[in-house]
Amino acid sequence: MNRPLIIAPSMLASDMSCLGAEAKRAIKGGADWLHIDVMDGHFVPNLSFGVEIVHMLRRHVDEATLDVHLMIDQPDRYARTFIEAGADVLTVHLEANHKTSRTIEIIRDMGCKVGLAINPLTQIEHTLPLLHHVDLLLCMTVNPGFGGQPFIIEVLEKIRVARRYILDHQLNVDIEVDGGVNEITAGPSVTAGANVLVAGTSLFRQKDMAEAIRNMRSKATEASSAG
Ligand code: DX5
Ligand code: ZN
Repeated sequence: MNRPLIIAPSMLASDMSCLGAEAKRAIKGGADWLHIDVMDGHFVPNLSFGVEIVHMLRRHVDEATLDVHLMIDQPDRYARTFIEAGADVLTVHLEANHKTSRTIEIIRDMGCKVGLAINPLTQIEHTLPLLHHVDLLLCMTVNPGFGGQPFIIEVLEKIRVARRYILDHQLNVDIEVDGGVNEITAGPSVTAGANVLVAGTSLFRQKDMAEAIRNMRSKATEASSAG
C-alpha cells in the first residue's frame, strides 16, 4: 500500500527573525506540512516555540497543515491550547510524563489528528497497541532537542516493524521520521516504511529551498517505487 509522501520542513532550522516569511518560503517551495517543535527544557534539554508561535503561524499561513511536535512533559495539560491555537496534527511522546492513552483521547475528542512519538532508544513494541488509536507514528531518528544531528540508522528496523504491523492490521497510520533527514537518508526511510519526512537543516539551510524539496521528493519517490 502506497501512502502519500509528505515533506514537512522543520521551522526550528528557519531564520527565526522572520518566521512568517520563512513559513511562506517553505510552502511556496513545495512543502506539504510545516513541522513545529515545541520544547519545554524538561523533557528535552532545550527551549523553543510555544503556543503563541503556533497561533501566529496559523494566521500567517492559513492554508498550511501545521504539524506540531510536543517535546514536553505533561502534554495532556497543553494539548487543548495547542489545538485551539491551530495545530492540525498534534504529536506527543510516549516517554513524556503523562497517561498516553488519555492524552490521545483528549486530542481525538477535539477532532485533531493525533501522533505518537518515540525516541531512538524506545522499543517499537510499546507503541503497537496504541497504533489502533492514532493517525501518525513519529520515529525520532535523533535524540530529540536539537536540529543538525546525524540520522540514527538503527531506527529503520523499528520503522519496518511498525509498517508491517500497520499493514497487517489494516490501520490508517502515517509513519514520520524526524532528525537528520536529508537527500541521502530520505530514500532508506521511505523504503523502510516512512511516508512523512521532517527535515530542518537540509531544507531551510539551502539557498534554493524549492530545489531541495524537489530533490528530496524525487529521491523518496524513487525509493518507494523501487521498494
Ligand atoms: C529535533 C526536532 C526536529 C529537528 C530536526 O528534536 O524534533 O524536528 O528540527 O532537525 P534536522 O532536520 O536539522 O535534524
Ligand atoms: Zn520534531
